[in-house]
Amino acid sequence: MILVDAPRRRCLAVVLAAGEGKRMISGKPKVLHELAGRTMLAHVLAAIAAAGADRIAVVVGVGQEAVAAEAKRAAPEAQIFVQAKPLGTAHAVLAAKAALAEGFDDVLVAFADTPLVRPETFRGLRTALAETGAAVVALGFDAARPEGYGRFILEGDALVAIREHKDLAASELGLNRCNAGLMALAGASALPLLEAIGTANAQKEYYLTDAVGLAHARGLKAAAVTVAGEEVLGVNDREQLATAETVLQTRLRRAAMLAGVTLLDPGSVHFSFDTELAADVTVEPNVFFGPGVRVAGGSTIRAFSHLEGASVGEGCIIGPFARLRPGATLERDVHIGNFVEVKAAMLGAGVKANHLAYIGDATIGARSNIGAGAITCNYNGFAKFKTEVGEAVFIGVNSALVAPVKIGAGAYIGTGSVITENVEANALALARERQVQKPGWASAFRARNRK
Ligand code: UD1
Ligand code: MG
Repeated sequence: MILVDAPRRRCLAVVLAAGEGKRMISGKPKVLHELAGRTMLAHVLAAIAAAGADRIAVVVGVGQEAVAAEAKRAAPEAQIFVQAKPLGTAHAVLAAKAALAEGFDDVLVAFADTPLVRPETFRGLRTALAETGAAVVALGFDAARPEGYGRFILEGDALVAIREHKDLAASELGLNRCNAGLMALAGASALPLLEAIGTANAQKEYYLTDAVGLAHARGLKAAAVTVAGEEVLGVNDREQLATAETVLQTRLRRAAMLAGVTLLDPGSVHFSFDTELAADVTVEPNVFFGPGVRVAGGSTIRAFSHLEGASVGEGCIIGPFARLRPGATLERDVHIGNFVEVKAAMLGAGVKANHLAYIGDATIGARSNIGAGAITCNYNGFAKFKTEVGEAVFIGVNSALVAPVKIGAGAYIGTGSVITENVEANALALARERQVQKPGWASAFRARNRK
């Protein structure tokens, strides 16, 4: 495949996001629902940016400020256009007329509710425009059950029209090459074609798909590119959202394994769109990676761990049943065991917190050992405070470190201590009641109570 030389062919991408998405039964617009920790809209914006779009126009509906805000967050350079009324896909593209009129070589049209299209596919549409000199390149797929989709009308190999399901003649109902909806238009003929589209169809809508028939009628060429149906899955309800999630998770797991990650039970590991696992990371079953996780080589994430916004150095062992929250930064060879939670904390090389602990808003020096049940008391109900632990410190079991507090390097904190004052380096700090012993008390107690 010849790749498009993006700098030479300038590309405008128009992303249609004006749909209401009623079938989601949701208080939030459809395209703001997430797949692998990122909105559908942001997935599409990322893919078209990766396909070399120089300009992005996002078409939203009236009152869809939240959609516009997410578009701006995900692609700050995007221009927002409002489609006053949902009169059809061609009408929606024309909402971005001001951008189209600036003159681009390639115009890509993407749907924000079709979130699994890969950058390669968008690039493939652009390549087809460049190679065939077509005015329109449509994206198709073969469906076992084509009902509902627009169909490609072919004469030999040539694409001459796309007909919406509701406009098909009885003899055309069996056609199974379907229109995925997205397409690429040659910039020079895009506006004249779009503006010629009318509403003489079953739904009285302005169909983008009519660009193909119009191009053919004007002696311009139309071409088609086909992909697997799952890549162009459109999301209209929660069930399709879950199907899309499954497809995406399968892709992410596969990419991780091909990059040298061992997944003991791939189907039970949930990735985010940006999960970064280095070669020779091993992930046991039932692990959840929320957004923003990086794990360096040789580390093992043991079963039932939940990680989010965390960075894990080389050779670490996390879990089973560990929780790393945003801002957890672990240097090499750190061990985090069962029921240990780490948040906004920097753990130096070789730190061990193997059982039942909370480390939040803290720095823990290299080689320190955090005993079972140790807690950083970081919050007084109003504000958060820091705990600073030096290198090679031993925090005894069931200690409470009441922040703000500093523990000097090499210090020992006696089991069960409530530490409210700074501890100097290499000291032993004990902050608990001395043990009292009453010899014979138990036998006397029993004698008193025996009948
Ligand atoms: C469209 C295609 C159909 C294709 C199908 C694939 C047209 C006319 N038909 O049909 O050939 O098989 O997708 O899923 O293009 N939108 C707006 N404003 C509008 C109308 C739509 O922004 O006025 C947006 C929607 O939010 C959606 C996208 O455009 O993201 C597609 O619209 P939709 O109504 O779903 O088109 P389909 O009937 O599915
Ligand atoms: Mg649709």
